[in-house]
Formats: sequence, structure tokens, C-alpha cells
Amino acid sequence: MKLNQIIQGDAFTELQKLPDRIAQALIADPPYFNVLENEAWDTQWKTAEDYLTWCEAWVRESMRVLRDDGLCFIFGQLGKREHAFLHLMSRLTRQHQFHDLIIWDRAVGYDERRDSFTPQYEMVLVMRKGDKVKFNKEAVRVPYDAKTIETYLKDKRYKDMDARRAHLDAGKFATNILRVPSLKGVSNEKCGHPSQKPIDLIEKLIACSTDPNDIVIDPFLGSGTTAMAAHTLGRRWLGIEKDSNYIQIAQKRLTHPG
Ligand SMILES: C[S@@+](CC[C@H](N)C(=O)[O-])C[C@H]1O[C@@H](n2cnc3c(N)ncnc32)[C@H](O)[C@@H]1O
Repeated sequence: MKLNQIIQGDAFTELQKLPDRIAQALIADPPYFNVLENEAWDTQWKTAEDYLTWCEAWVRESMRVLRDDGLCFIFGQLGKREHAFLHLMSRLTRQHQFHDLIIWDRAVGYDERRDSFTPQYEMVLVMRKGDKVKFNKEAVRVPYDAKTIETYLKDKRYKDMDARRAHLDAGKFATNILRVPSLKGVSNEKCGHPSQKPIDLIEKLIACSTDPNDIVIDPFLGSGTTAMAAHTLGRRWLGIEKDSNYIQIAQKRLTHPG
């Protein structure tokens, strides 16, 4: 099996061809189901039930290719009317082991909903395969802001100020609410995919769940964000994507990073 490459094809069919237990982490950002109403890839199912059945099939294959101590991250967003991701989470967590539910706080609201608060987050369902998982809490820390550091350093209860400063400089452990600003139209990172995720966000998921050289699989690679993040962190990767235009975008990003 050749790694660090994009396979053009259908996620379920291509996952079926992969050996058992090869991926340390699986990052799946699948079609949401009727959220991006102008994208053919997000509106390809007649009913929510069809979508859920399709998801169950590719998740089963994803869990098969996952190592016993691996983690499977699945992105999901609630639609304006369809709430397929709530049903999906309920169904998947009856079939596989729940590990966590991460909230990706996008920092700004993302639509003009008038009848409720403006949506600002997406969810990432995390599932595990076995009792023990590889998870490096040290790998993702959130810096303290200068004011907080200043206040803590004034606290007379701490005798060893060098140790205190080292602790503060390292930042605090990330919570399962990950605040990473979504990509704006003017962002240099933006490359023409309507659902492109920030590299910083995907790097956090990969950094905490894998070691260098481990294999990361993304069955819905889109513009190649997972591949970029895995490459930067020295992980091996495999991406599946069915749209040749997105594959071209991903390949361009990988050959001309930045
Ligand atoms: C939500 S986007 C992924 C975006 C990606 N995370 C990024 O940062 O660019 C979902 C992707 O799945 C692809 N897709 C849809 N159905 C697919 C299928 N059956 N097999 C493989 N890819 C598919 C779409 O073309 C789209 O690029």
C-alpha cells in the first residue's frame, strides 16, 4: 500500500480495499447532508435515512482500518432543518465505543439564522476501538494571555517563580472545546473548497492522537487539509476524495505549501 498519496474514488469502496488496523487516527469530514445546499456532494441522498445508512457503512470500514488504540474523528454540523448528525451520533455510539465529543468553536457565527442564536460551532464525534487509546495531552496546549500570566506571577503563594513561569509559558491543556477561527474568504489558507477546515484545527487532532510516522487516513480529503497537517507533523497519510477538481487543489497545496 502506497502512503502519502490521494486515491481518487468513493470513500466506502476505497476503505474496503485497505488492510485491518493500519491507521492510528482517522479524520473524517464527510458531506454534512443538505447543509451546503448548492454543493452536489452534500445533497446526493434522497432521505436522511439513506444518508445515515451510508455513513454507518463507511464508519464500519473506518473502524476496521483503525488500530486498536486509535481514534476516529468525525465532523458534523447541524443543518437548518435537517439534524442528521444528532441521529448519526446516536446510531454510531450504539455500534462503536464513544470516546469524546469535541466542539470546534469557530470563533465567529456562520449564518444568518433569525429565529435563534447564531450558530458558531461544529461538532467532532470521537470514537475509540479498544480500552486503551494513544493520546498525548501534552501535545496540544493553549497559551495563557499576557494579562493572565502577569496576574499569576503576582500571586505570592508561589515560591519557585522560575517553575511557575515555565508552567505558564507552556500554556494550559486544551479542553474539548477547541477554539480555532474558521477560514475567512480573504485568508491566505483558503483555496477554493467550500468546506475547507483550518490546518491548525486538524493539526491539533493529529498531534494529540498520533506519534511521528504513524498513519493518518482521511476518507473525504477535500482540499487536502489533513494531508498538509500530517505532512507538517511528520506523520504518514492516505487521503480518499472522489472529486478530481478538489484532488487537483490538494495536490497543488501539497507541492506549494504556504
Ligand atoms: C466536508 S468536505 C471535506 C473538506 C476537507 N476537510 C477540507 O479541509 O478541505 C467533504 C468532501 O467529501 C467529498 N466526497 C463526497 N462524497 C464522497 C464519497 N462518496 N467518497 C469520497 N469523497 C466524497 C466531497 O467532494 C468533499 O470534498
